[in-house]
Amino acid sequence: MKRVVCPGSFDPITFGHLDIIKRASALFDEVIIAVLVNTTKKTLFTVDERLAMIAEVTREYPNVRVDSWRGLLVDYCEAHDVQAIVKGLRAVTDFDYELQMSQINLQLKGIETLFMATAPAHSFLSSSLVKEIATFGGDISAYLPASIIPKVTERLSAR
Ligand code: PNS
Repeated sequence: MKRVVCPGSFDPITFGHLDIIKRASALFDEVIIAVLVNTTKKTLFTVDERLAMIAEVTREYPNVRVDSWRGLLVDYCEAHDVQAIVKGLRAVTDFDYELQMSQINLQLKGIETLFMATAPAHSFLSSSLVKEIATFGGDISAYLPASIIPKVTERLSAR
């Protein structure tokens, strides 16, 4: 059984994340989408809200499930018999930080990280940019699943 984890903040989940999740689900027996709790990061949605949104938009993939974790990703992997971390690489700007994290995770607990090249259509996409566009009334329909868009606009307008 090859079980991998796709970790992140997913605040909110975008088409870029979904592309990686879909492709990983075709390669591995089980994919866990792990929402990592970062207490220093101010998020738009609570962990439970993010878990619910992710579960809804990944319903069609039977081997994908969602979970959350407060702590080191390698400890999650060890506790849940996860063989590897799968991450999308958008551009060289991602590379330095991702390489550093993958090497630390390898040294800490011997956990491998597999990088998937993001589809070119999503190479510029990030949750932060989507939130910025939505804050100023821009059209975000190309970046997020339709069910998530009203949640983002409502939450931003309530701020
Ligand atoms: O979507 P993000 O915010 O870019 O995801 C980053 C994330 C959550 C994957 C990363 O910060 C992470 O793995 N955090 C958990 C703590 C940890 O294990 N850090 C790396 C070793 S120092």
